[in-house]
Amino acid sequence: MLYLLVALAFGYLLGSIPFGVIFTRMAGLGDIRKVGSGNIGATNVLRTGRKGLAAATLLGDALKGTAAVLLAARWGDQFATLAALGAFLGHLYPLWLKFKGGKGVATFIGVLIGLNWIAALIFAAIWLGVAFASRYSSLSALAASAATPVALWLLNAPEMAAMAVILVALLWWKHSENISRLLDGTEGKIGQKG
Ligand code: G3P
Repeated sequence: MLYLLVALAFGYLLGSIPFGVIFTRMAGLGDIRKVGSGNIGATNVLRTGRKGLAAATLLGDALKGTAAVLLAARWGDQFATLAALGAFLGHLYPLWLKFKGGKGVATFIGVLIGLNWIAALIFAAIWLGVAFASRYSSLSALAASAATPVALWLLNAPEMAAMAVILVALLWWKHSENISRLLDGTEGKIGQKG
């Protein structure tokens, strides 16, 4: 039991690293939380016009999740699943930003890569398909995340599917403002400066 809590805490600490905030500060762009949607994720970093920084943010936020899962997986699936939950919670509620973090999309796919790469591919395919058709990052994430528990279940990973339901609920909750903007037609499209 103690070891499972350690996996959760370890994932949380890794997930807490806010790459969007770090990279934009290092680039002299100030606080990303004062730009566009105010989110610390890659979609909002892209609104600064710096594609490289957005890509680095996406990579950092995803790989911290993958690293947490793969390191914890040495002790078994349960540890990996809890580290995934921890990393995701760390990104959403980071210690270093007074618990005000991001919306979790990059970290979601990062933990999926570590847990089940086929589910990660399904997520990426749906995200890309919806993004190509709609140009909305948020809508793509909402659709791709919703399909993930089903994909994990069909891939014979019921414990991961159950944990993914929690992640999806949190991801959708964190996107409530995006959902309102999508419904009233005011959501910004990918790359649109805000
Ligand atoms: O990855 C987050 C995305 O789904 C929405 O970001 O900045 O448009 O609120 P943003």
